[in-house]
Amino acid sequence: MASDEMLGSKRMLQVLAGDRTMPPPIWLMRQAGRFLPEYRALRADVPSFLDLCYTPDLAVEVTLQPIRRFGFDAAILFSDILVVPHGLGQDVWFVEGEGPKLTPIRDASAIDKLRPDAIHDTVSPVYDTVRGLTKALPRETTLIGFAGAPWTVATYMVEGGSSKEFFEVKKWAYSDPDGFARLIDVLVEATAAYLIEQVNAGAEVVQLFDSWAGVLPEGMFRRWVIEPTVQLVSRFRAVHPDTPIIGFPRGAGLNYRAYAAETGVTALGLDTTVSGAWAASLGLPVQGNLDPAYLLTGGDAMVSAVHDILNGFGDAPFIFNLGHGVNKDTPPEHVGELVTAVRSWNSDNGSI
Ligand code: CP3
Repeated sequence: MASDEMLGSKRMLQVLAGDRTMPPPIWLMRQAGRFLPEYRALRADVPSFLDLCYTPDLAVEVTLQPIRRFGFDAAILFSDILVVPHGLGQDVWFVEGEGPKLTPIRDASAIDKLRPDAIHDTVSPVYDTVRGLTKALPRETTLIGFAGAPWTVATYMVEGGSSKEFFEVKKWAYSDPDGFARLIDVLVEATAAYLIEQVNAGAEVVQLFDSWAGVLPEGMFRRWVIEPTVQLVSRFRAVHPDTPIIGFPRGAGLNYRAYAAETGVTALGLDTTVSGAWAASLGLPVQGNLDPAYLLTGGDAMVSAVHDILNGFGDAPFIFNLGHGVNKDTPPEHVGELVTAVRSWNSDNGSI
């Protein structure tokens, strides 16, 4: 457990413990990556994206790049949500300009071939990255570990990559719920074990990315987003009861209310569609939710949207972030402007 002194120096942990800080802590989803020239330079020398995720010295360096430039309050471990299927034994590769590819899993015999017990053998370099980061980060910077939530990871495993319609995974989940549940159960166990090891290695907070939560209708949202998250949170908390969990069920809409009330997560990551005032009424610390497109414009339009967000959350414990990841075409200077706008905000008059 963090001592009061540690909490005092880490804004992010203070907010997750239920306090509101002024200014709020800020970090951005996908704050490391292709929008930074120093990332592109380092990436050019690495044969594949997964090699980067599994080379601790390089993954530490890439995690630190945005911290050096912008002094964010939190660093997110550099890795990917697809290292879990890879660690389970599924073929995963990344094609330049096309995104991730996986050999699809669509039946029981393919589930039987997964190797939940062997996951740590493949993903253990990620734990070394976390250990390296605990030594390399400034003392005021909080270290966030992460994983994809079972539903979102299952969409990639079943579709064989990114998807627009999600018909393959939905066909399976809707027509054969017991069969599909076996895949979800494997993911619940593997993801809990993976996050527990990240915390053992030094992660102070974990975030669960449920990027495709919003494609499910209400009843299916309950079955494939809420229920697996409840189980995952409970397995994780059995080992690490005090480590905050940020749940990010992107696109959940009105289902955010049930997710907040039932999953047991500590805090909610909000996408761009949810208003601050409504989210504040859910009773948990909240994180979000500037549209990443404002980082393409920068300037007055962005600063005014930032003020609307800061004013909108009222007294809720609040972490500034985007509603989704930083776009690769974002000019880094705009991220600098954003950090300045958040840090110089004056809550009395809502302006700089
Ligand atoms: O800075 C950070 O946020 C930490 C690292 C991080 C990455 N991916 C690095 C990455 C995190 C937290 C993720 C999460 C992730 N990965 C999600 C959930 C968040 C979201 O965006 O919804 C998802 C769905 C993935 C799966 C994934 N990984 C896709 C669809 C892609 C291809 C799309 C793209 O942007 O190229 C990736 C590749 C990926 N993950 C890159 C990075 C920096 C780009 C790969 C490269 O450098 O070639």
